[in-house]
Amino acid sequence: MHKTLLITGGAGFVGSNLVLHLVRKYPNYTIVNLDKLTYAGNLENLRELEGASNYHFVKGDVADAVLLQELFSRFAFDGIIHLAAESHVDRSITDPLAFVRTNVLGTVLLLQTALRQWEGQMDGKLFYHISTDEVYGSLGETGYFTEQTPYDPRSPYSASKASSDHFVRAFHHTYGLPVVISNCSNNYGPYQFPEKLIPLVINNIREGRPLPIYGDGQYTRDWLWVGDHVEAIDLLFHRGKAGETYNIGGNNEWKNIDLVELLCDLTDEALGRSPGSARKLITFVKDRPGHDRRYAIDAGKIQSELGWQPKVCAEEGFRQTVSWYLNNLSWLENVTSGAYRRYYDKQYAG
Ligand code: NAD
Ligand code: DAU
Repeated sequence: MHKTLLITGGAGFVGSNLVLHLVRKYPNYTIVNLDKLTYAGNLENLRELEGASNYHFVKGDVADAVLLQELFSRFAFDGIIHLAAESHVDRSITDPLAFVRTNVLGTVLLLQTALRQWEGQMDGKLFYHISTDEVYGSLGETGYFTEQTPYDPRSPYSASKASSDHFVRAFHHTYGLPVVISNCSNNYGPYQFPEKLIPLVINNIREGRPLPIYGDGQYTRDWLWVGDHVEAIDLLFHRGKAGETYNIGGNNEWKNIDLVELLCDLTDEALGRSPGSARKLITFVKDRPGHDRRYAIDAGKIQSELGWQPKVCAEEGFRQTVSWYLNNLSWLENVTSGAYRRYYDKQYAG
């Protein structure tokens, strides 16, 4: 069946992996990608789609109400998958308002535009909001986030995502807008901007730069191969129940220091360097303010109701990730020049 989909933030890390997947898998869908192309958006990720007849790119801001109205008049969207966001916790600590503007205001404007467009004809429509496990706060040594865990966001980034989740639910309960929300753990894989831990570490090893570990390095994250997240999104977009929330996770917890040591060894091996040489670059630095200790997801609901589970195991995924970045040096060099380099120097100064 033909569908016209709006993907927001489709030039970012998760978004570009999703757009590539959808355009290839559903040639009968029209896919419109709305992205502001901030420092994190990169059309190079989508080069193979240039000229594809079922794909349109629109450069624009989700917080621009006029543009949204024009776009909805031009395309009769059946569904929206909303990923556009400011996504980096450290940046949210230095500039929280940018996160309120895009993540909160942008989401509410998108909800309002969809509601206006779909009012009286909600059948077959879906507003799917992509969110994060960080809305649930921080865990101790044990336990998992479930869909019932109370929200307890602790960084400006997670507070802005929690706020957007609340608005999405409010539009469902108040106006009957058909919505689905998913809250996912840390993704890794190709096209992630190298301000995030994994690509940052691989790139710094390559350049012989220090590998900054915040605090004691005992912070824990649950890592999921981005392609597994994309498959979960595809499944939830087509089979998720309106009004429901689904947690997505990798069942793959790593303490930061252990993960960085593994990446050191994999990168040394891939570069043909002597074992142990990258580990010498590990440098403990000042902690992230308000740093959440541990995230871990109970993904039992999406698994039991829809049969989803991660396919790519940690060993294979981390190895593939290291080789992707080392085999795509021009991508890395393009994104680490200019504005990003200035941000990086400020973030790790002193
Ligand atoms: P990203 O920073 O790599 O990409 C964000 C994209 O949004 C970029 O292309 C950027 O240009 C675009 N964008 C930013 N502001 C915009 C605006 N005002 N209007 C239009 N486009 C704008 O982020 P990501 O890691 O790909 O995350 C995508 C979504 O998935 C986010 O909503 C994030 O909260 C969520 N998420 C990410 C992860 C993860 O580990 N990466 C995990 C769970 C949830
Ligand atoms: O959990 C999902 C979230 O995962 C997403 O919602 C966010 O968009 C995404 O950025 C990610 O957030 P994190 O803060 O967990 O990811 P980040 O890669 O920034 O950091 C991972 C861990 O590594 C975290 O404990 C902080 C630590 N870290 C990070 C950087 C950049 C370091 O020790 N040193 C660093 O230089």
